[in-house]
Amino acid sequence: MFQKLLDKFNIHPNHSGVFAGEWVAKPSGEEIHSVNPSNGKVLGTVLTASIQDYEKVLENAGEGFKKWRDIPAPLRGDIVRRIGIILRENKAELALLICLESGKILIEAKGEVQEMIDMCDFASGLSRQLYGLTIASERPQHRLLEQWHPLGIIGIITAFNFPGAVWAWNAILAAVCGDSSVWKPSAKTPLTSIAIYNMINLLMKSSGNEKVFSLCMGAGNEAGVCLAKDPRVSLLSATGSCTMGRNLAPLVSARLGRSLLELGGNNAAIVCASANLELALKAVVFSAIGTTGQRCTSLRRLFLHQSIEKKFTEQLIKTYQSIRIGNPWEHGVLMGPLISSNAVENMMLTVIEARKQGANVVYGGIEILSNGCFVEPTLILAPENLKVMQKETFAPILYIQTFKHLEEAIALNNGVAQGLSSTIFTESLSDSEYFLSARGSDCGIANVNLGTTGAEIGGAFGGEKDSGGGRESGSDSWKNYMRRQTCTINGGSELPLAQGVRFQL
Ligand code: UN1
Repeated sequence: MFQKLLDKFNIHPNHSGVFAGEWVAKPSGEEIHSVNPSNGKVLGTVLTASIQDYEKVLENAGEGFKKWRDIPAPLRGDIVRRIGIILRENKAELALLICLESGKILIEAKGEVQEMIDMCDFASGLSRQLYGLTIASERPQHRLLEQWHPLGIIGIITAFNFPGAVWAWNAILAAVCGDSSVWKPSAKTPLTSIAIYNMINLLMKSSGNEKVFSLCMGAGNEAGVCLAKDPRVSLLSATGSCTMGRNLAPLVSARLGRSLLELGGNNAAIVCASANLELALKAVVFSAIGTTGQRCTSLRRLFLHQSIEKKFTEQLIKTYQSIRIGNPWEHGVLMGPLISSNAVENMMLTVIEARKQGANVVYGGIEILSNGCFVEPTLILAPENLKVMQKETFAPILYIQTFKHLEEAIALNNGVAQGLSSTIFTESLSDSEYFLSARGSDCGIANVNLGTTGAEIGGAFGGEKDSGGGRESGSDSWKNYMRRQTCTINGGSELPLAQGVRFQL
């Protein structure tokens, strides 16, 4: 069955992980293995880029940009629309590959491909709406306007947990904006990237645009560091941990470059006494264990009003007991494996640390012995100021604390370094308005009566503080991928100066 999937996407053994207008035949960097985290089996081996291969990629992307920027945006949008059709036609198979490689359950993997399709639809509509402003000029017979031009080469670094969607957020928007892009995917999910490129290659080539999307896989951080340091890269969009952001951002800013960072989260839910508890329970469970707790939006901290704490925690434990853990491609399974044995070890160390700091593990906290990277979803009753709660552990650990007054819960919500996603469950208008006010949640995403995960592509996605400050996907995020030009045009024969300045010659 798996061989058929590889054949479908033209993925052969020792496939090149470098695309520069075409697949570079034998890239000379290290080889990497894609491993199925459910059983430890190697799914495929991929050859990564050396410095020379990287150079080839950047040259190609530069040429691609020069040609692509001259194509009218609506025609670029039409190409992107056709990418959306290809994705629709291959949705089931691509989802299966994502499921095998990343370990997320099939239904979520399908959602991920849908997110890519949604991005194509959104971006193709946007290609006719890259609007600038006209602004009233203070000078007679003058016109003041803003226009948007393509930016250049966009470097895109993505993580294993959304091996397709986050590429689409960036590359698809960049494409309608007239940019070329160089993608450095996670070394843990190389086959998904190869499949995507093989799928769209024919379309890009037959329309003469094969240099628009390039790919540069690296074994370690090298390719990412090259992109960060390279002045030819006009924008570096990087999704990953706060540590990754801290390492890369200074390299970009040292060359006064632009970066767009989508980093870690430490997301919280507040459940008020008035909340619809049934709804809250479902949302909390999906947000905490979906993608095995490996979304940047995953729910990590739960603040329960003291009046409902006991009941809600009991129901949570009961629901956790019923969660089917197993092979993510099997029907009925709700939680697949973590991505690697390192991730399992990291989770277990966090549980040990939490216990040491006085926390009470009320559910899970153990590794499930098998050939895969399976763990039990974990609930931890946390004492006040539990230190380990300050950090993001990319695993299904949910810390629970109680509160008396909403003010206190909001302070807890905001009391961490990260600021990505947050939510409140309440039936009270004033509670929800407080949460959404300037004194409320300090996160980039603030929801009411739904989970912290599963954002739609239509909104701008991203967070504040250590979460990086970037905004990707919907709304006006496209502006990140273009350069703004302010133009003043004098249609008269006089030369009036701004601010009333008189310069008598
Ligand atoms: C991520 O984990 O990096 O809102 C992105 C969500 C998804 C995207 C998550 N649409 O959970």
